[in-house]
Amino acid sequence: MEGKRALNGRIKIQGSKNAALPILAACMLIPGKCTLKGCPDITDIGYMCSLLKSAGAEVSISDTKTEMQLEVDTRHVREYRLPEKYVSAMRSSVVMMGAMLGRLGEVHVNYPGGCVIGERPINLHLFGLEKLGAQIWTEGNHIRAYADELKGAVIDFPFSSVGATQNVILAAVTARGTTVIKNAAAEPEVTELCIFLNRAGADIDFSKVFMPDGKIVIHGVELSRLHGVEYSIISDRIVAGTYMFGALAAGGTVTLENVPIRQLGSVCDIITKMGAGITTDTDKNEITVAAADRERIVNIPYIETDIYPAFPTDLQSPLLVAACMANGTLKVKEKIFSSRFRIVEELQRMGARIDVDGDTAVVTGGEELEGRNVIARELRGGAALVIAGLCASGITTVADSGYIRRGYQDIVGDFTGLGARIRYMNSP
Ligand code: EPU
Repeated sequence: MEGKRALNGRIKIQGSKNAALPILAACMLIPGKCTLKGCPDITDIGYMCSLLKSAGAEVSISDTKTEMQLEVDTRHVREYRLPEKYVSAMRSSVVMMGAMLGRLGEVHVNYPGGCVIGERPINLHLFGLEKLGAQIWTEGNHIRAYADELKGAVIDFPFSSVGATQNVILAAVTARGTTVIKNAAAEPEVTELCIFLNRAGADIDFSKVFMPDGKIVIHGVELSRLHGVEYSIISDRIVAGTYMFGALAAGGTVTLENVPIRQLGSVCDIITKMGAGITTDTDKNEITVAAADRERIVNIPYIETDIYPAFPTDLQSPLLVAACMANGTLKVKEKIFSSRFRIVEELQRMGARIDVDGDTAVVTGGEELEGRNVIARELRGGAALVIAGLCASGITTVADSGYIRRGYQDIVGDFTGLGARIRYMNSP
């Protein structure tokens, strides 16, 4: 990419990766045919479909230019041994445990993969499933879980985990009796899973998830009560946030269409405080970021990542790049993942002034970035490096952009539509 050009125009935001993945796992629990509209066309969805197929589901894809629809028919699912090839390709495969235990009473998997952004243990997942009556054996990288019958229980998580909450919900849907999850994660990707499952015949009450002890209550239903549904995947708040920080960093005026506005409160708040104009149109689900007046773009003293509805860890790297382009100093504390400053070294090579001390980075903005050959090491950091390249003088190349394709359908096409000079290398 050739940087230093303002971004102007409109982008339509894709469906949410982190909502679609557990919903695809949920399809395995439902003995029927589900239609998922608005799935993002990204590598991780491809891996998940392969995983479902390997367990006996029929998955068909119908593609339009901007939207992918998946039909998942799981009526003939019998296989509980999931192949390592797909399980280790992504983190989300771990929620297949809850779905398969609920459906078949048994699952053999190995430890999941996913972006290397710090310690990602699954102890809370296993704790929750064991509380529901699953017996779990781990040997090396392999995990076997078995449940004659899952029984409702009170599961009090020591802290909130998106994946562990989803896993327990999936297992509890057909457990006998009532399950209460305390300290449940309240991220939109969790509530979306509940809404999807309720449409398919489950009985989940998540109305108290924002109360102090964050409760989700699941009343178990017979497996035969679950049925296939048609469902539209919500749009991706993290992709939307990435492009909002892109506009803030590079300058210009960008309108995002198909945005989950209410889920972006903390992001809008920060971008406004950093001096850009934010306009929302709730009827059209659009947000406009106006950041053409560069004099007004300033850093605010301190931002920390935290669980929803606070500022999301997945947008911390795009924020760092925007902070490099703003005047003044920003201190960012990363509270969710231990190794989420992996792009700092690459940004420093581009001329950024960032000091990292443990879980805190201090960015001194207002320095020119210079185009360099940099390497993506994980999904969100990779997308942030693209933004950095769009702000830098000269040419930047981002290697290992496959990481970005795991979560962004077409980052190059999207930025090209906003007037950026950017292209894939070595691609037709
Ligand atoms: N944790 C444990 N034990 C567990 C599970 C989690 O200690 O058994 C810790 C993690 O190490 C982390 C914290 O709890 O420090 C929160 O992790 P969480 O389980 O909430 O995250 P996740 O389910 O693994 C999802 C998203 C991530 C997103 C986080 C936080 C998916 C597939 N992934 O991960 O998204 O950063 O929630 O919101 O939904 C991404 O899309 O780039 C991404 C990494």
